[in-house]
Amino acid sequence: MTQNELLTEYRKDLLGVFGDPSLVLTEGRGCRVTDADGGTYLDLLGGIAVNALGYAHPRWVQAVADQAGRLAHVSNFFTTPPQLSLAHKLLEILAAPEGSKVFFTNSGTEANEAALKLVRSHGNAATPHKSRVLALDHGFHGRTAGALAVTWKEAYRAPFQPLPGGVEFIEPTLEALDRAMGDDVAGLIVEPVQGEAGVRPLPEGFLAQARRLTADGDAILVVDEVQSGMGRTGRWLASGDELGGENAPDVITLAKSLGGGFPIGAMITMTPQATGVLGPGNHGTTFGGNPLATAAGSATIEAIEEEGLLENARSMGELLVRGLSQMEGIDEVRGEGLLIAADLSRADAVDGGAAPAVVAEARKRGFILNATGPATLRLAPPLIITASEVEEFLQALPGIIDAVVDA
Ligand SMILES: Cc1ncc(COP(=O)(O)O)c(C=O)c1O
Repeated sequence: MTQNELLTEYRKDLLGVFGDPSLVLTEGRGCRVTDADGGTYLDLLGGIAVNALGYAHPRWVQAVADQAGRLAHVSNFFTTPPQLSLAHKLLEILAAPEGSKVFFTNSGTEANEAALKLVRSHGNAATPHKSRVLALDHGFHGRTAGALAVTWKEAYRAPFQPLPGGVEFIEPTLEALDRAMGDDVAGLIVEPVQGEAGVRPLPEGFLAQARRLTADGDAILVVDEVQSGMGRTGRWLASGDELGGENAPDVITLAKSLGGGFPIGAMITMTPQATGVLGPGNHGTTFGGNPLATAAGSATIEAIEEEGLLENARSMGELLVRGLSQMEGIDEVRGEGLLIAADLSRADAVDGGAAPAVVAEARKRGFILNATGPATLRLAPPLIITASEVEEFLQALPGIIDAVVDA
């Protein structure tokens, strides 16, 4: 079947929540994918910050295949060696304080859902009850009801009201944080880099101040590193500088790069205050932490460590940022490591915004990236991307922008 015929099948059989997919992808290797008509693409989006090792990484493939041949799933009445190994490894690389604990999920939204239940339970156990949950303007935490309730974009939330209540959105500024905090706050959830908002890092000092104020007010600080974590910014955690060691947040949530393409998420409790909240019977999941997913997670971490991919993310990120910053047609470049956004200068030269048009034109020319808004391009390529692949993209992009904006 041709790609167009397959897309017709999609429209017939799949619920249209994602809009029309632009391609039917059939295989991938390294940073390149192939479509059903044989077209090939250099992938600068990595399945939206998921495919840390690119496609068909031999170590990952071997680990998943070996585990599938041994034991793919057991219930959480039992544990398995891959689950234990990944939990141990995660606590080690995140430099989690003694006593920290891991709860595995299948996605980012579920990791946040667990964190929000923890926050609510902590608030309900306090005397008097702490009823307020703070979240940030422009934040994105997922599409299930709890995570959606702390997701800022009104259009995402409006059709599904009433969502869990008690949530207040505040500007991501130190002043707004100071004003909002109080003894009645059960928790605060933040992304260190707001990915879906166009890769916007929090202001310097925000996380450290959030840690101080939540500790003083006995509130749970949840740091959502679903997009920014697991090496994406060239460090295991984007929040590490301000929240390391004694300043660890109460809870960190992870997903995306954690499984290198296998669906898995995690909620990690980093303080005794958070670790003590949920106990037997309080929460659960059938698939969370299953041996196949956790074997994929360990293979991903081992490859990142052994192949120096944190360093590669930093140096390839610098190459991209330098190239984009010098490029005609780009106003501002943001990000760190391989989580980068570029704002186009003449965004309103095109109906619907130049960024979506650049994404479509780039695809025609063999590059995958995405737009987080009418003016903003986002790049989150595999951490294995090479200098020659980065150059290939930087060479092509000016022509792509010109073709769209001058059309
Ligand atoms: C910061 C952040 N949190 C949570 C999520 C939700 O993750 P998932 O799509 O795996 O449910 C995302 C997804 O983009 C995200 O970027």
